[in-house]
Amino acid sequence: MAPVGSFLPSLAALSACIYGAAAQGRPPSVIETEVLILGGGMTGVSAAHSLYFESNITDFLIVEARHELGGRVQNHRIGNYSVEFGANWIQGLGQNPIWALAQKYGVKNRYSNWANIDYFTKDGWEGEDGPLREAVTRYEEDVFPQAMADAGRRKEMGLPDLSMKAGLKMNGWNPTTPEEWAAEYFSHDWEQAEPPIESSFIGTIEAYNESFIESGNSTNNIVIDPKGYKQVILQYAEEIPDLDSHVLYNQVVENITWSKTGVVAHTTSGLTIRAKRALCTFSLGVLQNNDVTFSPALPSWKQEAIANFHMATYMKIFARFDKKFWNDTEFLLYADPDERGYFPVWQPLDTPGFYEGSGILFATVTGDQAYHAEFQTDDELKAEFVGVLRDMFGKDRVPEPVEFIFPRWTRDPLFRGTFTNWGAGVTVRQQEDMKAPVGGELDSEATLWFSGEHTSRKYFGYLHGAFWEGKLAASHIADCILRNCITSEGTINVKRSAEEFAPSSGRKLYRRRRMWS
Ligand SMILES: Cc1cc2nc3c(=O)[nH]c(=O)nc-3n(C[C@H](O)[C@H](O)[C@H](O)COP(=O)(O)OP(=O)(O)OC[C@H]3O[C@@H](n4cnc5c(N)ncnc54)[C@H](O)[C@@H]3O)c2cc1C
Ligand SMILES: *[C@@H]1O[C@H](CO)[C@@H](O)[C@H](O)[C@H]1NC(C)=O
Ligand SMILES: *[C@@H]1O[C@H](CO)[C@@H](O)[C@H](O)[C@H]1NC(C)=O
Ligand SMILES: *[C@@H]1O[C@H](CO)[C@@H](O)[C@H](O)[C@H]1NC(C)=O
Ligand SMILES: *[C@@H]1O[C@H](CO)[C@@H](O)[C@H](O)[C@H]1NC(C)=O
Ligand SMILES: *[C@@H]1O[C@H](CO)[C@@H](O)[C@H](O)[C@H]1NC(C)=O
Ligand SMILES: *[C@@H]1O[C@H](CO)[C@@H](O)[C@H](O)[C@H]1NC(C)=O
Repeated sequence: MAPVGSFLPSLAALSACIYGAAAQGRPPSVIETEVLILGGGMTGVSAAHSLYFESNITDFLIVEARHELGGRVQNHRIGNYSVEFGANWIQGLGQNPIWALAQKYGVKNRYSNWANIDYFTKDGWEGEDGPLREAVTRYEEDVFPQAMADAGRRKEMGLPDLSMKAGLKMNGWNPTTPEEWAAEYFSHDWEQAEPPIESSFIGTIEAYNESFIESGNSTNNIVIDPKGYKQVILQYAEEIPDLDSHVLYNQVVENITWSKTGVVAHTTSGLTIRAKRALCTFSLGVLQNNDVTFSPALPSWKQEAIANFHMATYMKIFARFDKKFWNDTEFLLYADPDERGYFPVWQPLDTPGFYEGSGILFATVTGDQAYHAEFQTDDELKAEFVGVLRDMFGKDRVPEPVEFIFPRWTRDPLFRGTFTNWGAGVTVRQQEDMKAPVGGELDSEATLWFSGEHTSRKYFGYLHGAFWEGKLAASHIADCILRNCITSEGTINVKRSAEEFAPSSGRKLYRRRRMWS
């Protein structure tokens, strides 16, 4: 982290008014701006880009707690290789805007082949054909397609949602063996980061359809760029002229006061930022954990929506060995004999086309297993990690790793988890309420808006969801600033293109038909 006060040079260029101690050479204590963007992840950057390029609004400021933009897209070095602690895949290439940006900026990525996989149990590799492979095939080829059609029927008929577990059960899936647990985990938890019993049946399948079928190309590519996946966000932000004059880095917002007349944010370093309107892009986890307080408290319908949606945790654990002891596959699936979700998915990066010769592989744990792992010491977790590998490959073949690193997302007050999952028992109305603005009787008087990965109806949990939500929120705010919330020809186009991907927007003004209850 850069020292507090390192925002000073960029402030010099600020077009915003600066009051207070600045004249006496101390850091300024009050800043004013028209639109304050709270958080500089994909959503905040996308909103800023849209305000600037689509609405010609230049008086905006991003306030970000970290030393750089990018939020949940973060890479770290292990053995001089870059690995991603957060987002890693470009999911569903088709119309995914992140795919277009990755190509534009030359961010290195490659096809990620989920079928290039070896299956393991406690007794080691199960061979070419075994019960684990059989269970995965049955889930993917028989159960899931049937469940997809069934969820679609429920939605069309207006029937209430189920849990994913119940939806699967109604379509012939009733896991009772370690192999079936692992197969279910690989197809469900490893994507949603929560088990089927906690997930919405319709919400899960609708989201799957949108990213992987509606996008026109269900291919997943994985980013392996030495400068990190974050380049997609950093370079998109750099397109904004004089970017530094629009960003305050290293400023942790601790409370947000909102009213009809505007929004005031206070940071832990004593800075006050006053804005006519603000867009809060902090993660759902941050909102759920009261890391930032709102004054007055948010309305109860908003609090209910925030409380009921799920912030999940998807934790990647990386190790580097002197040399690889695995074969040339991209994935290893492990069925633990007595604990569902115990180190089930492994990804060797030392495999052809990836980081050959690196000795790196990583495991992913989610949900309760991730919470457990985050509370272990590094050494405790390393012992569990190596223990599973020794069951898979044999004691003699697995040495101690030379490096071992992992993030603790849930304990990080800037994130409090990794991405959202549509929980069983969450209504469409609650999902819409998460992004409805507050601050006025009418939306035209709203001052505080909400946006993020979590407000995306179709792409919650994904980087492309954050991208579209930022754009959509910016277009609504621009309409309110420029036309008292009345859309014009110009912005209708912007909205349409955003709405194709995120059709349900703000609560009163933009309310739309609800497709399932
Ligand atoms: C482990 C993991 C794996 C993922 N895998 C994928 C994937 O493979 N593909 C994919 O498409 N998506 C993936 N995602 C999801 C994707 O990363 C997110 O959807 C997206 O980055 C969210 O962007 P955001 O701007 O909405 O939120 P954030 O990135 O969380 O941005 C919010 C910003 O607010 C800042 N902030 C928080 N609190 C404060 C405060 N008090 N004061 C000031 N600033 C604050 C944060 O530092 C952050 O920069 C993954 C995420 C994680 C964590
Ligand atoms: C953008 O706004 C500025 C004034 O703020 C104006 O001079 C300029 O012409 C505008 N550009 C466009 C494309 O509308
Ligand atoms: C580390 O990686 C970077 C980027 O891939 C490369 O330029 C550099 O030469 C590497 N350094 C060493 C010591 O291998
Ligand atoms: C998902 O897509 C399948 C195949 O196109 C379709 O049959 C089903 O109705 C869709 N389900 C939902 C919930 O959208
Ligand atoms: C999806 O896109 C990738 C990258 O452009 C391409 O290689 C692949 O063939 C496409 N797949 C389909 C099914 O269109
Ligand atoms: C917000 O934080 C500031 C700075 O720490 C503090 O002075 C103020 O009392 C807080 N306001 C509220 C409403 O909590
Ligand atoms: C790896 O390949 C070797 C040689 O082909 C084979 O004997 C071994 O069983 C394979 N192991 C795994 C886990 O696939």
